[in-house]
Formats: sequence, C-alpha cells, structure tokens
Amino acid sequence: MYNIINYMHTHFLTEAFIMIRDVQDEIIRLKKENDICILAHSYQGHEIVEVADYVGDSYKLSVDASKVTNRNILFCGVHFMAETAKMLSPDKRVYLANPLAGCPMAEQMDAAMISAIKEREPDRKVVAYINTTAELKTVCDVCVTSASAVKIVSAMEDKKLLFIPDCNLGAFVQKACPNKDIMLLNGGCPVHAAVTEEEAREAKALHPKALLLVHPECRPAVSELADYVGSTSGIIKYAKGSDGKEFIIGTEISIIEHLQYECPDKRFYALSKKIVCQNMKLTTLSEVYNSVRSIAADDGEAFEIKMSDELISKARVCIDEMLRLGG
Ligand code: 13P
Ligand code: SF4
Repeated sequence: MYNIINYMHTHFLTEAFIMIRDVQDEIIRLKKENDICILAHSYQGHEIVEVADYVGDSYKLSVDASKVTNRNILFCGVHFMAETAKMLSPDKRVYLANPLAGCPMAEQMDAAMISAIKEREPDRKVVAYINTTAELKTVCDVCVTSASAVKIVSAMEDKKLLFIPDCNLGAFVQKACPNKDIMLLNGGCPVHAAVTEEEAREAKALHPKALLLVHPECRPAVSELADYVGSTSGIIKYAKGSDGKEFIIGTEISIIEHLQYECPDKRFYALSKKIVCQNMKLTTLSEVYNSVRSIAADDGEAFEIKMSDELISKARVCIDEMLRLGG
C-alpha cells in the first residue's frame, strides 16, 4: 500500500512539474515573440517569478517600469502597481494579469477626503504611500514606497507632513525622522496589521535562534520586537547577507518560498499564518498565460490599464518627485 501511494505521489508530482514547465516555456516564447515585458512583485508565487523579466518590491518595479523598452508590459501584482507602471511608461500598453487583484489599502482614502484635510492643514505636505489610487495621487506632493520612505522624507525640506494611508509605515518613518512632525490617519494593510504582538512573541519563543524580520506595515508593537524592519527587498537582502541560519519572516508568505529557493542552507518560518495577501494570490500562472496569449492575439481579452492623459500628468507629479528624491 505504502509503495503504491508513494509511487502515485511521485508520479503525479512529476507530471504537475512538467505541466508547469510547459506553460512557463509557452509564456516565455509568446512574450519574446510579441515584445512583452513581464514585471512581477515579489509577493507573486515562484512559478510566476521564474517567467518574469523584472522582479522586486514596489520601488524597484517603478524604476524598472520607467526603463522598459518593450511595447507591452504585463504586470503581475495589484492594480495600483500596474497603474504606476502605466504612468511611468504612458506610451506602452500596460496590462494587469488579473483584473480583480486590487490592494484594499489603496482604496481606503480618496482625493476628496485628503483635499478636505489639506484645507484645514494647508502648511502640511502630503506624503502618499505608493499603495494609493492614481486619483488620490493627484492631490499628493510626493510618493514613497516602504523601501524609500525614510530616505525621501529625510530629504524633504518641509517639516510638517501628512503621511497617508498607512499609519504603521508612517509611525516607522516618524521614528526614523524625529525632527519631522508627521500627521497620521487611521489606514493600513489589513494583512500585515493583523499580526499581533503576542504572535510575534510566540514565534520568537518557538524559534529562539531565529532573527525576526518584519515589513513596516506591521504594527509598531510587532516592529519593536524585530531584529530588522524593512521593505520586501530589504528583508530578502538582509536574510541572504546575514550569518544567521534561521529567520522568522514578517511579511507575505511568498517571500519565504523565494528565500528558501535562494538560501537552501537556511531555515525560514512564517511569523503568522495570517500574512497571506489574497489579492496577490489572485494571479496564477494560467492567468499569466491567458494574458500573454490575448496580448499576442490583440483580442481585447487581456485587462489593459486605461488612464486619461490628464490623470496621468496630474498623478505622475508625485511619482516623479519620488524618483527624484529616492534615486
Ligand atoms: P513593498 O513596498 O515592500 O514592495 O510592499 C508593497 C506591499 O504591497 C506591501 O504589502
Ligand atoms: Fe495591499 Fe497589504 Fe496586499 Fe500589500 S499585502 S498588496 S498592502 S493588502
């Protein structure tokens, strides 16, 4: 009995891997033949990362998007990221692999709400996390990502700021920039903010030799227990470069998968089973395949990001400012 189950397990798994490889090969062929560049956020699964031309955190992908020379960009991530790529490469056709993949934090505040606060606080510059809609970006002064927030806020001459929407990232920036007066609102990432201080203490107790690495979207009480707080790429870089052998990862679960591939001699544990971004997980390899096939056929099925020239020019101002100050 054991042998039959064992045989079937190995056999089916091998077939599944061959199928994945076949789909990946077809995606690679289609993207090369049809001048498509694939950008994937690091929260995508490894099978998608393997077919991408550029992989990284929000900041790196923004810089990459501004340099792409291909006619078509296929974004594997969430809506605001594809929108940012469109703003940075307005003459390209930019597609999002799954049209339903949005970031709930990006929808928490809108331009009318922030404009009303600006009227009451006219001397504050508005710093917007890149996880915001293009419409909201039109009333903001500068964008930041988790990797660039401290550098950009430090480089700003203004002292009085309004940081939106993530109050946890905002608190992290305030701590790193004590000379600034940063007003925060009650927004944030429902995935990272769900992790409690108690869970962080339990994870540390369970893995006493492990270093705790967390994303600044986590609550300050969680970040305070961490050995390192940083963006997705910051966490990856830290874990790869560290002499440590065990790490508790306090960001989206895909990062554990990528790190385990890159560092087979190290061990990675999830800080909490809750840190799964369902929106990032909406993109599957079959959606990537269907998108490249539709882009190749130009049959109108792939989800293309459409924005007016006026919206692009107004929303892009704070992204250009981010690239200027963060570069
Ligand atoms: P990064 O800025 O680290 O890419 O994070 C983006 C994000 O959506 C985190 O939840
Ligand atoms: Fe948005 Fe949080 Fe998902 Fe990042 S992890 S895309 S901030 S919901």
